[in-house]
Formats: sequence, structure tokens, C-alpha cells
Amino acid sequence: MTTLSPAPTLSKAADPLQLIDVDHVRFHVGNAKQAAFFYAHCFGFQIEQVSDLTTGCRDAASYLLTQGNIRFLLTSGLTAEHPASMEVAMYGDGVKDVAFTVFDAEKAFDRAIKNGATATPGGEPHTMRDAAGTVTTATIRTYGRCQHTFVSRTGGYDLTRVKQGGIFAPRFKRIDGKPGDSCGTSMAVGDGGVASGAGCAPQLGVGSSILSINDHNRKNPCGLKYVDHLVGNVELGKMNHWVRFYEDVLEFTMFKHFDDKDISTEYSALMSKVMASGNNLIKMPINEPAAGKKKSQVQEYLDWHCNTPGVQHLALRTDDELHSIAALRSRGVDFLTLPDAYYDQVWDRVNKMLTSHGHAAVKEDHQRVRDLGILVDADDEGYLLQLFTKPLQDRPTLFFEIICRRGSQSFGKGNFKALFEALELEQERRGNL
Ligand code: FE2
Repeated sequence: MTTLSPAPTLSKAADPLQLIDVDHVRFHVGNAKQAAFFYAHCFGFQIEQVSDLTTGCRDAASYLLTQGNIRFLLTSGLTAEHPASMEVAMYGDGVKDVAFTVFDAEKAFDRAIKNGATATPGGEPHTMRDAAGTVTTATIRTYGRCQHTFVSRTGGYDLTRVKQGGIFAPRFKRIDGKPGDSCGTSMAVGDGGVASGAGCAPQLGVGSSILSINDHNRKNPCGLKYVDHLVGNVELGKMNHWVRFYEDVLEFTMFKHFDDKDISTEYSALMSKVMASGNNLIKMPINEPAAGKKKSQVQEYLDWHCNTPGVQHLALRTDDELHSIAALRSRGVDFLTLPDAYYDQVWDRVNKMLTSHGHAAVKEDHQRVRDLGILVDADDEGYLLQLFTKPLQDRPTLFFEIICRRGSQSFGKGNFKALFEALELEQERRGNL
């Protein structure tokens, strides 16, 4: 059966920091309209909703892109002073906010603050309300330029409604001009009182090209379902600090850890600890560079990210790796290339591990896996297929991983060496090794 996300334990009696879902991942980008086309064209996202001047938003434009249970918000500042404009100047395009849906954003925020979190400027609980319902947000800082927003929703803005095409929040409108569940009287509370009734206007001002690409993507799905994990790069010596932050503030636990003996080549190394939310809904590995003969890939990221921690990659889950990778390759996505010799040993390694733990061998066609350049790894619980894109922007910072799990809950440790050698080749090409 196809799943849209891991099933969380839904109990309102539980801790306020219980995460219901990844509400959305917000990117700060230089030109949200153009970035929306990139992610739609290359990765098959629907450009579903927009918030901009035409909906009463005077300082930023945001596009809601969706696929399966993945929601990206691409935001660009419309003024030089908007935080997105300033951040893009410093860091280039990248992830700003990993937002979590919770039962009560204010209670989650209070608990996080009590646990030692710091609010972002203006991040205190804030409710947007209209006839359709409410969206309450509250935001805390995490590593570097990143933040976590707690989001709770009622009425037409409930996440279940949003997943069915309902309006994401006040001051958003659907690109296709359909009303959505909650369109009609949107007005943000405490936000200058600019009515956003234009949210229902059939005249979109976005042209028919978005509708065409949405139509194409509906007919040619890439099969991405939800965010499997989300990796942060922090500075040398700071990994344990941020591990404690996720333990203390968000009450995550450590799921796995890898040291520089696991993740190193002759030249470069890194260390990683995987933090997981209470219900394992979201996993957030944290990387720090480790000393090697040459520059760690984490240090390269930091060098091109204003020496500031940030999100290194988002792993997007698919139920069919071969289909997704073939679709993305045909759309022009650039993936890391591994030496062909990788496939001389991988089947022996992986299938030995699987049979020794009583699991069936890898069912995907081996030749197609090789032709598509997909990586395979196994552990005592099963296997996984994964592949990594090259950086999604000119700076060697954010990239995506496309991952399919067949029982394995790990991260592809058996591929680290081959993968890092491929990454070093790329670093060398960029003059950054
Ligand atoms: Fe990953």
C-alpha cells in the first residue's frame, strides 16, 4: 500500500511537542516565481498556491509547491529589507524553516522556550483568523540561519483540508482559480488589515504556463511522497551542542550515529548524529566536518554558506526508486555519478546482508538499478535504494536525496565511502577540495 507519511500516534493528551506532520519546508530564494518553475519542471511539483501583491502581501511573494505529502513554500522578498532578500544575499537560495504541525502551536512554543529555545525576532505566537478558520504560528531558532515554526490549524485551514486542496493560510490563493475550501474572506489578524478577498479572483496574473506544467505533472508523476529526513551541517566541534539542543528543546532522541571511521575516505571525513522526534515522524541528522588530508564536504558547504550552519540536504521518499529516478533524469535533474566499479561488489554485499538476516534479496532489476546509477545498501532490517542530486543552485550548498526504503531504517552507511569519493571528485572540479 502506498503511504503518504509515517503514521504518527495522534493523542491530544500527549506532550505538546508531539509532531503531527512536517507542515512545510520554507525556502528563501532570489526569485520565487522562477524557482517554482525549476522545482515543478525538474521534480514534478504542483505549483498550487501563491501569496503575493495580488493577495495583499506587500513585502514578499510565496509559492506553495506540493507533491504527495511534501509542501515547499518558496519565498522571495519584494523589498531590500525583507529577511528573505537579506538572507539570499548572504547564503544564496536555501532552506530557512522546517515547520511542524502540532496540536497547539502556542503550547508547543511555550514548552520549547521552557526547554531552552530562543524565539526568532517576531516569532512569538501569532494567530491569523478569518471566517474559514485559524492558523497559529510560533517560531524558534535552531542551527545557523534556520528555524522551526510550530503551526496549528483549525477549520478550513486544518492540514487534512490543505492536503485535499484547501487554502494553505490567509492571503493565499489557488493558482488554478478554484476557490479551495477556505477562500472568501481571508484577512490576516494584526497585519495591517489588508483584505485578501482577491484570493478568489479568477484573474491570476500568473499566465497559463503554470497551469500547463501542473497538468503535465499530474499526468507524469515523479512519485515523491514525503520528507524522509533532513540533514543539517554545523561547524566543527558543534555537533554535540546541537544534539543536546534537539534532545532538550524538542525532546528528540538520538536514533543513530556515525563517526569519522564510518564516513571517511583517504582525503576527507565527517561525523553525523541522527536525531528523531518522539514518534520517529521526522529524522534530522546533524553533520560536522572532521579532520582529513583535504577539505570535508561539510566544510565546503560552510565556506559557501557564509560560515553559517544550515540544511545540507532533504531526503524525499518514494515507493518506487526506479520510476522516480528515471522520471527525474528525463526531466534533467543532475545526479552524482558513481564509478561503474561500485556495481561489481554491491550485489554481493547487499544480498549477503539480507539473506543473513532472513530477508529476501533486492527485488528491483539489477541492470536497471545500474543503468540509472542508483545506490543500494542493506542492514539487519532490510534494504534501501538512494541517489543524490548535485547542488540545486550555483553554490555547492543544498541538494536532495531520493530514497526508497524496503525495511531498512538506516541512511546508506555501506555507500558512504563510494559516495564521498564521488563527492570529492565534484569538489575538485569546483576547486574546493
Ligand atoms: Fe540522507
